[in-house]
Amino acid sequence: MATAEQGGIEIPMSASNEPKTGGERVAPHSPLDRYYERESNRHSYVVDLFNKSAPHYNTIEKLFFNVGLWYRRFSLRRAGLARGMRVLDVAMGTGAVARGAVQLVGPEGRVFGIDPSVGMIAEARKVFHGPVTRGVAGELPFADEQFDFVTMGIALRHVSDLATTFAEYFRVLRPGGTLWILEGHVPTSRLGHWFTKLMWATVIPAMTLTFTRSRDAKLLMDYYWDTIDEAASRETLMQTMKAVGFEEPRYRAAHPVCEYVARKPQ
Ligand SMILES: C[S@@+](CC[C@H](N)C(=O)[O-])C[C@H]1O[C@@H](n2cnc3c(N)ncnc32)[C@H](O)[C@@H]1O
Repeated sequence: MATAEQGGIEIPMSASNEPKTGGERVAPHSPLDRYYERESNRHSYVVDLFNKSAPHYNTIEKLFFNVGLWYRRFSLRRAGLARGMRVLDVAMGTGAVARGAVQLVGPEGRVFGIDPSVGMIAEARKVFHGPVTRGVAGELPFADEQFDFVTMGIALRHVSDLATTFAEYFRVLRPGGTLWILEGHVPTSRLGHWFTKLMWATVIPAMTLTFTRSRDAKLLMDYYWDTIDEAASRETLMQTMKAVGFEEPRYRAAHPVCEYVARKPQ
């Protein structure tokens, strides 16, 4: 059986990484060919963008007074993350979710991180001392039923297929385990859309460029707006979670984010 190394620990990989759906791809957003020519280039484009902007990611968080870090921890606790649990943080980036999870699970618990960007992992290593693996959401190098919680903060738009990704989350969760996802959110009302666009397409990219002096960091924020504006609907996300077996998926929109929580049946 194949194994993956995580922080010096060998963990057997599942015999099957196949999605548990009918095989139909569910795209996380419509194609954005103004950034990359072909869909097949999307993943390398995204990882390259994160590698280049990684040193500035925490500066962007600070523009919001690190409220995002506090909110991630608050939302995880509300979803039931508690002492002693075993967590997989997918798309850990610089560790914004993982840090909160470490505090909540305490010394009895364990938090694992995974991300495809070496730049983001290097930043995470400055604040997160648990096991980290390089990899993608749609192909997790972990055995079945390993985790009490799977978390993913502000990254769902970057996966290649929502169905495969949710099937992987379902596979690595133990029965009764929880999936928690935080994602950007655009209100459906005309005024809400106009205001969100003003902030995320104009004001925040301009602030990012001013404070980081990095065109890559600004491009990351431009890309953020375009992907959330073109993202699959909440209904599509909930249906796709249900299709792979999650029960009671629910969401709570707290502008400018939306959190999704779903359980794997016992
Ligand atoms: C906006 S950051 C989010 C970081 C962190 N989770 C947070 O809440 O701030 C998005 C992360 O998704 C990662 N990523 C991109 N494509 C991915 C994929 N297919 N699977 C998993 N992670 C991916 C990027 O490398 C990046 O670190």
